Amino acid sequence: MPLVPMRQILDEAAKGGYGVGAFNVNNMEQIQAIMQAAHDTQSPVIIQASRGALMYSKLIYLRNLIEAAEEEFPEIPLAMHLDHGNSVETCKQAIDLGFTSVMIDGSLAEDGKTPNTYEANVAITKKVVDLAHPLGVTVEGELGCLGGIEDGHGAGLSTDEVNAHLTDPKQAEKFVAATGLDALAVAIGTSHGAYKSGRKDPKTGEVLPPALAMERIHEIHKRMPNCHMVMHGSSSVPKELVDIINQYGGKMPGTFGIPIEQIKDGIKHGVRKINVDTDSRLAMTGAIRKVLFETPQKFDPRDYLKPARDAAYQVYVDRMNAFGQAGHAGDYKPITLTAMKKAYGFGGDGCGCGCH
Ligand code: G3H
Ligand code: 13P
Ligand code: ZN
Repeated sequence: MPLVPMRQILDEAAKGGYGVGAFNVNNMEQIQAIMQAAHDTQSPVIIQASRGALMYSKLIYLRNLIEAAEEEFPEIPLAMHLDHGNSVETCKQAIDLGFTSVMIDGSLAEDGKTPNTYEANVAITKKVVDLAHPLGVTVEGELGCLGGIEDGHGAGLSTDEVNAHLTDPKQAEKFVAATGLDALAVAIGTSHGAYKSGRKDPKTGEVLPPALAMERIHEIHKRMPNCHMVMHGSSSVPKELVDIINQYGGKMPGTFGIPIEQIKDGIKHGVRKINVDTDSRLAMTGAIRKVLFETPQKFDPRDYLKPARDAAYQVYVDRMNAFGQAGHAGDYKPITLTAMKKAYGFGGDGCGCGCH
């Protein structure tokens, strides 16, 4: 089965009232674990690669690994998505590689750090929509800024600054209308990485769950019931995974993630794509540390990469069940980019001018 436009996966998720995990990958083990989990739970799934991932895997390797995944599990609706594209050029590169969906993160300037103006965000997002839709490719945009930094990406905002950059529901309505995007990433107080809480109990010093502005998601859904929202920074950072890392020589104090219950509340109110990267990183790192700590004589990468892949698999299975995508792989007949192009109103050769 060819890769599916992400838009179809989101449209079907909206019909079924469930969310779909979008899992970041950098290597073969993560792709294999995701696909095995999708097969075992019969889930449609989104695999995504950041710019850092594309550089790490040298593009062509990742594309061929995804092709292998499709070939092994042809019954699984699978979309390949660019995460946090920073320019029209990066999005074009991903589309040329065969990605069926791209994110243009116009909430930040091209440096991936400086918050952008609303006008500049609209302009670049619209440019990518104009490039992608005539080819049937899905576009995700972002309004508002997240906290945290991953691999140099992110504004590194403090908790107060994050609160000043939350998505404004009224502006979101304008943004969606002005750009014509397919999926809207919202800033509601989540952050990338394993440290999502800037809050501590003043008496005990204990780290508290991040205060999320879920009411903004509710409000956006009320204003635009058909808008597919995306929650970034949505790893749950399970304590048991962090404990394994710390037990075997790691140092990760004070971590905190997004409780699954809050994600489920988002799904009830229009969140269709949930981005998870950190949880798989934690699971793999803990498994590798454990093997190397307990059997320091081992040096065959398979001895630690197989347990790492198994640990990531369990995370994916848990998330697929929690988000509700499990059991929905066979609900619909996947469409091609050509069919999607027509659905956007472009026929023929996809020159983008609408003349075919
Ligand atoms: O957006 C953040 C994702 O976790 C990707 O992280 O840029 O380190 O690959 P990365
Ligand atoms: P986490 O760091 O919470 O896994 O978020 C990943 C993400 O949002 C990728 O775009
Ligand atoms: Zn993100």
